[in-house]
Amino acid sequence: MKAVRIHAFGGPEVLQLEDVARPVPAPDEILIQVQASGVNPVDWVVREGGNDALRAFLTLPLTLGWDAAGTVAEVGSDVTAFQKGDVVYGVPNFTGNGSYAEYCAAKASQFARKPGSLSFVEAAAVPLAGLTAWAALFEQGQLRAGQRVLIQGASGGVGSFAVQFAKAKGAYVIGVASASNLGYLRELGADEVIDYRSQPLADAVRDVDVVLEASPVRDNAERLKAVSLLKEGGIFVSVNLDYPFNEEVLAALAQKHATGALSANQPRQDWLTEIAQLIDAGQVKVLVSKVFSLAQVAEAHRESATWHVRGKLVLDVANAIEPA
Ligand SMILES: NC(=O)c1ccc[n+]([C@@H]2O[C@H](COP(=O)([O-])OP(=O)(O)OC[C@H]3O[C@@H](n4cnc5c(N)ncnc54)[C@H](OP(=O)(O)O)[C@@H]3O)[C@@H](O)[C@H]2O)c1
Repeated sequence: MKAVRIHAFGGPEVLQLEDVARPVPAPDEILIQVQASGVNPVDWVVREGGNDALRAFLTLPLTLGWDAAGTVAEVGSDVTAFQKGDVVYGVPNFTGNGSYAEYCAAKASQFARKPGSLSFVEAAAVPLAGLTAWAALFEQGQLRAGQRVLIQGASGGVGSFAVQFAKAKGAYVIGVASASNLGYLRELGADEVIDYRSQPLADAVRDVDVVLEASPVRDNAERLKAVSLLKEGGIFVSVNLDYPFNEEVLAALAQKHATGALSANQPRQDWLTEIAQLIDAGQVKVLVSKVFSLAQVAEAHRESATWHVRGKLVLDVANAIEPA
């Protein structure tokens, strides 16, 4: 089968499209015939050798890609939830071999039925970013109906889902992005929108229950400004696991009796199923801003690394796409 692998860490030039053996699923795994794979920042961070949170877990060679939609081709001996031919979406084993490949073996518990209203390309855009947004808002942030949430990076992969999930659960959403994405945030349902380049947050916002840092900004001085917008007892959640809170931020949180949390995505089948229901009910839309073939993966990584993708980038693994 074809797979995009790396044998050394480095720039986009280390990405190699190769022929490799089809993986064999372990007893608790399914083999997925991958139709499409989402592209996430973690893919090129791993390609470069990882960050402080990841480095220790990476071994070479490695097939990248941790977002998949496809068809179940085989089931492991212990798997009862799926049958051959089921159409699924989910998160391949991290940091095992991923979904930039025609087949991928992954834990069955990390997959669920694909939303019926989505194409494979759209479905592959959902799992990792969607689960990250879900864990951050509802597990770490404990967001409830009627609460006010400020979402930074609201136009990106994680942020686009966070805005819509928060609205679907009845929260009041303040979305932060650059000027050209403010209309997009309103289309997603944001109640208020803020341009981070021209509007100081403190002038526009106060009394939020939850701040979600889903932007790539790793800057504790910026965090201090966001903490100042929280209500007493509020919660500041960051998905930037590799960038801990410093003492100043912790002190500012303590002064407000607020909580700070670093939040990881969790590959949970029950959440994927609930997300699929929201999508099929029309409450959550999926924006794929660009589709690439496996052979165009380097281009996809360069685009992701700009940190200004609206929605998601996806590799259409099953169909070769000619360069534009
Ligand atoms: N913990 C986890 O499990 C996990 C999982 C996935 C992602 N993450 C992290 O989550 C963050 C977002 O990931 P993503 O996949 O959503 O990335 P993304 O799709 O590239 O989105 C990033 C967003 O951040 C905004 N942004 C860029 N520069 C900014 C700046 N200087 N100030 C404020 N906003 C800025 C961009 O909005 P504009 O284009 O409008 O500027 C863009 O929409 C990353 O740091 C990533 O490492 C963590």
